[in-house]
Amino acid sequence: MLRPPYQKYETFYIYGFRDGHPALRVLDDPDLIGYWEEDGIGVLFFHKPKDALVQELINQFNLTLEIKDEVPYTQWNERRIPQPFEVGPFKIAPLWYEGKWDLIFDPSVVFGEGTHPTTTLMLHSSWNFYKLYGLPESILDLGCGSGILTLFWAKLGGKIRAIDINPLCVKVTQKNLSLNGLQAQVQEGDVREFKDFACDLLLANLYKGLLLDQFKREEFFSAKYYLLSGFTIGMEEEIIDGLEEKPVRLLERKQIENWVCYLLCRI
Ligand SMILES: C[S@@+](CC[C@H](N)C(=O)[O-])C[C@H]1O[C@@H](n2cnc3c(N)ncnc32)[C@H](O)[C@@H]1O
Repeated sequence: MLRPPYQKYETFYIYGFRDGHPALRVLDDPDLIGYWEEDGIGVLFFHKPKDALVQELINQFNLTLEIKDEVPYTQWNERRIPQPFEVGPFKIAPLWYEGKWDLIFDPSVVFGEGTHPTTTLMLHSSWNFYKLYGLPESILDLGCGSGILTLFWAKLGGKIRAIDINPLCVKVTQKNLSLNGLQAQVQEGDVREFKDFACDLLLANLYKGLLLDQFKREEFFSAKYYLLSGFTIGMEEEIIDGLEEKPVRLLERKQIENWVCYLLCRI
């Protein structure tokens, strides 16, 4: 995340450690952007080279350094650089853009910089949903990433619970809510162990395997409406198969490039 004196992202200095380590989760350093763990690697992101600090960490916690990289922000994230964008009535921008915005956010180094087709689909479908059905009483954002969907619904006045398995996503979402003077209940958690899916609108921009696993759980189908994304045209057959004989009906299908988004309602 950005904190003074840093105002924007220029270059990431990245250090990846085999298996990660709990101590890295609580590391505090003025040049630290964030830390996350995925697929057996714990990754630290800094604004500056931090070889001396990293060597200390290796010695202290017996870590194995597997990745050391320097990535200009322009090349990060498939070169998808966060830009201002509009959804419904709202002008939304990364916090370093000057201008008058309805929502600002720090994309940090997590998913949800706003311009990925799945996020765009979820945001625009959210706005369409709001226009058609009004404000749902309760919203659940599964896999909140930077919190962009949570911010959008909170701006509309929604009561939201957001969860993400990645602790950095929780921190970033909380920061982004507070940047905008908004509130939501944000918690670290694994969707696979989550039980309380009851809500009016469930948002799940996840990935195919995780969606399919959820479809096998009866409690997943306790929401009234579902906006699902994170799968491509090529995966749709499996998604449709996974939803067969489940208590939901497909109301709307949208697509950007080869990414797909479904609006479902419980029957
Ligand atoms: C595709 S991103 C979506 C981010 C944001 N909601 C958006 O639409 O731009 C998926 C998010 O799900 C989170 N995630 C992946 N597996 C998860 C799990 N098992 N439980 C909870 N969150 C998970 C990831 O950390 C990531 O932030």
